[in-house]
Amino acid sequence: MGLKATLLLGSIMTLSVANPSLAADWQALPDQAPFPADNPPSEAKIELGKILFFDPRFSEHGTLSCNSCHNVMTGGDDNRPNSIGMHDARGGRSAPTVWNAAFYSVQFWDGRAATLEDQAKGPVANPIEMGMASLDEAMARVAKIPGYQPLFEAAFPGEPNPITGDNAVKAIAAFERTLITPNSPYDRYVKGDAAAMTEQQIRGMETFDALGCTSCHSGANFSGPTLPIGTGFFMKFPTYPGSAYDAKYKLTKDPGRYEVTKKAADRHLFRVPTLRNIALTAPYFNNGQVPTLDKAVQVMAKVQLNKDLTEAQTADLVAFLNALTGEFPELALPRLPGTPNMSVIPPVDPHLKVKAHR
Ligand code: HEC
Ligand code: HEC
Repeated sequence: MGLKATLLLGSIMTLSVANPSLAADWQALPDQAPFPADNPPSEAKIELGKILFFDPRFSEHGTLSCNSCHNVMTGGDDNRPNSIGMHDARGGRSAPTVWNAAFYSVQFWDGRAATLEDQAKGPVANPIEMGMASLDEAMARVAKIPGYQPLFEAAFPGEPNPITGDNAVKAIAAFERTLITPNSPYDRYVKGDAAAMTEQQIRGMETFDALGCTSCHSGANFSGPTLPIGTGFFMKFPTYPGSAYDAKYKLTKDPGRYEVTKKAADRHLFRVPTLRNIALTAPYFNNGQVPTLDKAVQVMAKVQLNKDLTEAQTADLVAFLNALTGEFPELALPRLPGTPNMSVIPPVDPHLKVKAHR
């Protein structure tokens, strides 16, 4: 009993001396993302998912792929306030990055999808995104493209009819779980390389903690504690309404999670987003109304913590957030099967009227 207690105490001590000067529980990004038990990754699945991610042919006019709005050659988004979907349509929300999305316990700004698999069912049949009538209609197109059959067979061996919507989204999700960016200066710093961050970045890290940013942006992904899939870490935004920022950036327009649950208590709740690679994903917030990172940091301090930052604090915080830009894995562009066969796409009606922009 006594020995056991000593051992336990010993291990707790070792953990806490790792970084005694810092209050927050700073964590490096894991090398691998978690995956659901019914969709273990395989090389064939990841390859198929990557091909589907880049293939525009299952959007209405064959012009938009997932990569159009989640450009993995950059920060994994489209750097616009609102994405431009089929027929030039715009939604109210800004495209979040797909990099490290695998570390969330729910997907979307309002957390309306539990998993990456569930999420991927959305855009294909969304009239203002890829514009197909249904995921099944999209799969009927995929099935007509020579070359997809063996890819689906390899990814889902033993299934008599592997070209299904469920399998397509499983493959896409398996690919997305490889979109992770470890080894940022911050990660190297918390793993013990004291020279990985500049003095200003270290100061910014301390400010980030001292101000209370870590009360929401905690954990390895800076999106809150690790929770079971589907749980979601939601916070009110703005927590302190009434500042001049509300009107300037339309911060109270989107009811957030209320749209999903219709519960009054969920009004203006949003999932706490990751801050990894945040320097690459301007403009900011769910509506993309805030153009720069220094503004975004000032808005956060004011509307979430009721604090006005000095110029120096803002600069330090931004320097720290820049230390969260990770290493992007080299992606070889896939060859799309059947290329350049566009015959699966029905001709576009030349008299099609495009709706005016909102
Ligand atoms: C026309 C632009 C557009 C296309 C095409 C598109 N998306 Fe998105 N995506 C968005 C927008 C906008 C959101 C945020 C919507 C919301 O939260 O309400 C989003 C959200 C996401 C998310 C959630 C990330 C997070 O942080 O919660 C993932 C993952 C994602 N999309 C993957 C995909 C995949 C996979 C495809 C292709 C099957 C795709 N997207 C096609 C615009 C697009
Ligand atoms: C009470 C919880 C909370 C606190 C405290 C908080 N944040 Fe946030 N943060 C959020 C939520 C929720 C969002 C998503 C807002 C939205 O829907 O656009 C967010 C968004 C952000 C964004 C924009 C992300 C993007 O992809 O556009 C940045 C940058 C950010 N926070 C930085 C900070 C900094 C720096 C601090 C400390 C000064 C801080 N946050 C404090 C909850 C919080």
